[in-house]
Amino acid sequence: MGEPLLVAEDLGKTYGTEVKTVALQGVSFTLERGEFASIVGQSGSGKSTLLNLIGLLDTPTAGSVALDGHDTRRLSGNDRARLRNELLGFVFQFHHLLPEFSVLENVVMPGLIGGGSAATLRARAVEVLGLLGLDGLEEKNANQLSGGQKQRVAIARALLNRPALVLADEPTGNLDTVNTAAVYDLFRTIHRELGTAFLIVTHDRAVAQQTDRILEVADGRLVQDVRDAYVSPATPSPVDGDEATEPLPEASPSGGEEATEPLPEASPDGGEHAADEPAVSGPGAHEEPERGGSAHV
Ligand SMILES: Nc1ncnc2c1ncn2[C@@H]1O[C@H](COP(=O)(O)OP(=O)(O)OP(=O)(O)O)[C@@H](O)[C@H]1O
Ligand SMILES: [Mg+2]
Repeated sequence: MGEPLLVAEDLGKTYGTEVKTVALQGVSFTLERGEFASIVGQSGSGKSTLLNLIGLLDTPTAGSVALDGHDTRRLSGNDRARLRNELLGFVFQFHHLLPEFSVLENVVMPGLIGGGSAATLRARAVEVLGLLGLDGLEEKNANQLSGGQKQRVAIARALLNRPALVLADEPTGNLDTVNTAAVYDLFRTIHRELGTAFLIVTHDRAVAQQTDRILEVADGRLVQDVRDAYVSPATPSPVDGDEATEPLPEASPSGGEEATEPLPEASPDGGEHAADEPAVSGPGAHEEPERGGSAHV
């Protein structure tokens, strides 16, 4: 099936030079295309650090990240940015929308900066906004939306380039339970319809249980990587003496049946991205505007 989408090998991050903080060490795992996985762990355990390294938003102090077969250590800054923009979409806890711009402008802006065709990007944005239940709001200013709507706009922006992997860091940390459920339903729909892989950092065990795979980080190390037998550290059980044993319910293997809206023009493999498509996703797209995407979309 070709290269894995992501290979993290012995990944480590130590912050600081005088005073050193070992935020991450010895983390190795592989993510295949189309996986729907979560990263859990206590505050300060290294979840965001891990996601930032995978997302090429930060560089490791040890180990390596390979994305789509590319060893990212070997890439120039421009090539890293291009790879990030071709493969990845980012959703953060705070939506980072530009308040003075319309919903549509917010969604297409990174793509326009990347040199994409305005007409194509707008058409795609309208389609994605519709999928996310935001039709009719295209011309509204971002600051006139509710928190849940803003987060869905941020998700639309992350999806516009049809990334192979969406990295989400506490994407519903600011939302109520209704909007939280709506966001995860959307993620599942996108996962199923487009084959997009997801790696979602969450504090919420109930959310993690709904993903197909749970990676748990503790004190900067990967301590669990399970698909159907997550052991909760918070609820130790004496049954086997040495380990907590509460398993997670079986994850739904096909992403559940709850969300059904099909995406038009969806490429089901989730892995094909024209090499010259420009970036559209999240803050990363703003960092290095010199990346090499051409105008073709
Ligand atoms: N820029 C930085 N400089 C120094 N230390 C940092 C930096 N960023 C994070 N750390 C430290 O690295 C460790 C891991 O931080 P990280 O942000 O990855 O945790 P987290 O699991 O995402 O926590 P939370 O759930 O609170 O978001 C913490 O001890 C944190 O204080
Ligand atoms: Mg964090």
